[in-house]
Amino acid sequence: MERFNFVLLVAGFGFFGLSFVIMGLMPIAQYSDIDVVTMEQLSQDVPYQFTQLAEQYPDEFLEAFGSLETTPEVFAEAIQYGKAIYIAEACWHCHTQQIRRVDPNTQMEVGHDISRFSPELPKESVSDEYYNEMNYPHLFGTRRVGPDLFAESGRHSNDWHLAHFFNPRQTTPWSVMPPYSWFFSDDEGLVPNKKGLSMVAYMQWLGSWRKQFAPTTFTDLPVILFDESWYPEEEVADEPAEDDDEYDDYGDDEEDY
Ligand code: HEC
Repeated sequence: MERFNFVLLVAGFGFFGLSFVIMGLMPIAQYSDIDVVTMEQLSQDVPYQFTQLAEQYPDEFLEAFGSLETTPEVFAEAIQYGKAIYIAEACWHCHTQQIRRVDPNTQMEVGHDISRFSPELPKESVSDEYYNEMNYPHLFGTRRVGPDLFAESGRHSNDWHLAHFFNPRQTTPWSVMPPYSWFFSDDEGLVPNKKGLSMVAYMQWLGSWRKQFAPTTFTDLPVILFDESWYPEEEVADEPAEDDDEYDDYGDDEEDY
């Protein structure tokens, strides 16, 4: 029996070592001769949407970035701030940034990346796209409650994004995305603050390097409209049965959290 434990111990260390080499050391060795794209380099291409933000919200833009000129430096500041908010608000909890080739033939699949970003421009994300300072840390994400955002640039207008952030159900009635009213300095969602402006800049940057933009809607894909039958009204018992063990397990005892 002792020998068996010893074998397990050796195997454990062995596999740990193996994964460390394959997933840690090998990529470092493979990419060591490629220079990481710096913030300065990647901010040279300022998407037109950023200039539009400055034109549309001059006062807020000036207050946020101290300049109305959309220079690469200002743009770099905005997308870095946008990314910081993306991390702080845990957007990565519901969104991925990795376009996958799932099954190009089943276009029915909801959330199918290649067809979402257009069947004509099938392009999954490649390692090259992550090799820049905006990806330290990368935000691959693991859950896909919402769609992948890695090629978000150009899919929607700035206005759409702002309306969507203020209240996602304004643009997408069935959305489960929470509203972000603190991206605005008024109560009606008309005046974005630095967070709002930076977040839109970040969204419009994601994928802007691809130079080919996905249309917002496709005619050859089924349009999925909200259907009330998805949420049938259920009969709700007035009071939960007292000796319902299952209910107790999930009880709303706040001290548990
Ligand atoms: C609870 C999960 C959840 C969180 C948290 C969340 N989202 Fe979403 N998001 C969704 C869902 C679901 C959709 C699809 C429906 C819609 O358009 O609102 C979506 C859609 C989007 C879209 C539109 C994508 C497209 O191309 O149509 C953008 C952009 C977006 N989210 C950005 C964000 C950002 C930025 C944050 C953080 C500030 C965030 N989301 C937080 C669930 C979430």
